[in-house]
Amino acid sequence: MQVRILGSAAGGGSPQWNCRCDVCCLAWARDPRVPWRTQCSAAVSADGERWVLLNASPDLRQQILDNPPLWPRGDGLRCDGRASPIGHVVVTNADIDHLAGLLTLRERQPLTVAAEPPVLDQIAANPAFGVLDPEIVRFERLRTGAPHHLADIEVTPLPVPAKVPLWMERGGENMAADGTALLLSGGGRRVAYVPACAAVTAALRDRVAGCDLLLFDGTLWRDDELRAAGVGTKTGRRMGHLPVSGPDGALAAWRDVPLGRRVFIHLNNTNPLLVAGSPERIAVADAGWEVAEDGMEFAW
Ligand code: MLT
Ligand code: MN
Ligand code: ZN
Repeated sequence: MQVRILGSAAGGGSPQWNCRCDVCCLAWARDPRVPWRTQCSAAVSADGERWVLLNASPDLRQQILDNPPLWPRGDGLRCDGRASPIGHVVVTNADIDHLAGLLTLRERQPLTVAAEPPVLDQIAANPAFGVLDPEIVRFERLRTGAPHHLADIEVTPLPVPAKVPLWMERGGENMAADGTALLLSGGGRRVAYVPACAAVTAALRDRVAGCDLLLFDGTLWRDDELRAAGVGTKTGRRMGHLPVSGPDGALAAWRDVPLGRRVFIHLNNTNPLLVAGSPERIAVADAGWEVAEDGMEFAW
């Protein structure tokens, strides 16, 4: 099984187009400690030929250009000239950073878009996604806890505490919602993909224990990070993301769970983990964690 990180930042990317927080300032200055990162997505393959996208970010076109295995093949795979090795897209929630890239995939390519029912409903409710021609794009319903086979990768959605998409918030009420984590297996390897998580439940820990790789929500270093950076007032918890640090954070939640590699993904532009060599980066490295960069590869 192969996994490629196409985009390692949260919504907005790093640097974010309108931001000059401390970390974005370094990124705008092209400081080598803070390589630019596109918005959260990964690709997984059992054979290196057929690829399954995990979420479709607004940066998807750039991500395809940056990753040659995702380029259309020149060996006549399709007589009509459309030859992408991307056959499936799994969408874990309907936030813009996970969904907008579907619009990039509109150029008459047979595809399956797989998601749990609330996400499929949110896609269906937006007529813009009608550009995905229903004659060649199939929408497949994922069921929580049930394994699905996509290009020889077994994909099992697991429930995680999360939040409705930002664009669906209604006055800040009734925002809690189940989100989707993905358990992927192929070639005897297991990978967990969890880009958005409000809390780590015992059930999630049990299902993920023993995975060869955990890709986990590293949106914020601390819960009040946006306020501290002077760019917003929302806490991480209000955004549906548990922080990395602190007694209820991700480091503490996963500390005693046996895992192969553990890697933070979906990093917000304010997060000091984006800065190589920062005290925060050293602290997570000491705890056995890596911080994803665009183009990072895992293969077994
Ligand atoms: C999030 O992860 O909280 C969302 O991507 C926010 C957004 O859509 O901007
Ligand atoms: Mn996001
Ligand atoms: Zn910033």
